[in-house]
Amino acid sequence: MRISIIGSGYVGLVTGACLAKLGNEVTLVDIDNEKIEAINNGLPPIQEEGITEILNQAHLKATSDYRQIADADIIFLCVGTPVSEDGAMSLEHLTEATGQVTRALEGERGYYVVVVKSTVVPGTTEEVVIPILERAGKKAGKDFGICMSPEFLREGKAVYDFMNPMRVIIGEVDKRSGDMLLGLYRNFNAPILRTDLRTAEMIKLASNTFLTMKISFINEIGNISKKLGIDVYEVAKGMEFDDRIGSKFLNAGIGFGGSCLPKDLRALIGKAKEIGYESRMLEETLNLNEKQALKLVQLLQKHISLKGACVGLLGLAFKPGTDDVRDSRAIGVVQALLQAGATVRAYDPLAMENFKKLFPQIDYVTIEKVLNCDAILIITEWEEFNDLDYTGKIVIDGRRIAKAREARIYEGVCW
Ligand code: UGA
Repeated sequence: MRISIIGSGYVGLVTGACLAKLGNEVTLVDIDNEKIEAINNGLPPIQEEGITEILNQAHLKATSDYRQIADADIIFLCVGTPVSEDGAMSLEHLTEATGQVTRALEGERGYYVVVVKSTVVPGTTEEVVIPILERAGKKAGKDFGICMSPEFLREGKAVYDFMNPMRVIIGEVDKRSGDMLLGLYRNFNAPILRTDLRTAEMIKLASNTFLTMKISFINEIGNISKKLGIDVYEVAKGMEFDDRIGSKFLNAGIGFGGSCLPKDLRALIGKAKEIGYESRMLEETLNLNEKQALKLVQLLQKHISLKGACVGLLGLAFKPGTDDVRDSRAIGVVQALLQAGATVRAYDPLAMENFKKLFPQIDYVTIEKVLNCDAILIITEWEEFNDLDYTGKIVIDGRRIAKAREARIYEGVCW
């Protein structure tokens, strides 16, 4: 099939690359000329396992010219939908992209399906996207199709997740739209749920917020357990035998970051408020997460005075395997340390360049220099941090690095 993807961020790029690998003809549209050039030269603008190989093999081109989508069978909208601190989702990129798609597809042509893949709050496809697409005088569900099909890709494992989905959700305005999208997944061995547009939108938000609750929950159990002298990791091990609970996402620590979980949680809280519902459960999940990372700094203050101290950070990325620092727990920690008058030295194998854009004033150094600081905070569980010599050091650990227990003074954030 001829596929067009609007937006070549990590969702758009991975979706496009994987669909091209599966034999479709893919055109990626983006407004960023640097990205376009990189993709056309086989150089992915993101760190993602396996993507370079696909870009160099598959039939895929990137462009800034919307006219090139004119003969597409399926058009995916994969642009960013940022969410403000108060939970309001900005649809600026989505409405702009949808307007461009409408213009590119106006006039006489065969049936096509537009698929919203961007994460949006329930009602957005019906109330915002469809009205724009219908401006050219065509009717959704008659002249063209529309689906909402959320993505569940994890950064760093996105290619694997695309090729091996745990489920495929197809929200459809009518059966014909869904049938056409389904054609792309015919060789996948995954459960497929076909539903309406707003349910598909909610499935995405509910899935991500459930994960945030799981993390904040185990962190809370950790906070209580630590005071009682109980190891939360041992508690989690005991809980995991119950398959109603499951074994994933029970790693207690300094909480969740990244471009999706915190944002989607804020968006659902914001949407609930907008319709007059106050979700205390979700709000507390977010509050707990904000406080959890700062515990590292509070614990450190029990051992040293921060004013004038040199504090070393191991890890800046929101999780290992990526250079992404969006909503990384390191951000609040660095702010608190600087506010308390400490000097900060940081090391991360991939994320230093990105973090430098947020905090140019701290020192980006080698691991050895971090280890020579007055105290060390562990922010990201990079494997290499398990091979370091921590003897004689003061370490406050946010991610359960086993080797760090050899430190002279060792404390886990909630163990
Ligand atoms: C997340 C979801 O896992 C994906 O399914 C979803 O598609 C994606 O968001 C999205 O909406 O685009 P991702 O942002 O790549 O994927 O990150 P995760 O691997 O889920 O990790 C998120 C954060 O939770 C990290 O900061 C990680 O350190 C933290 N975490 C995770 C814990 O603190 N404890 C755990 O047990 C697991």
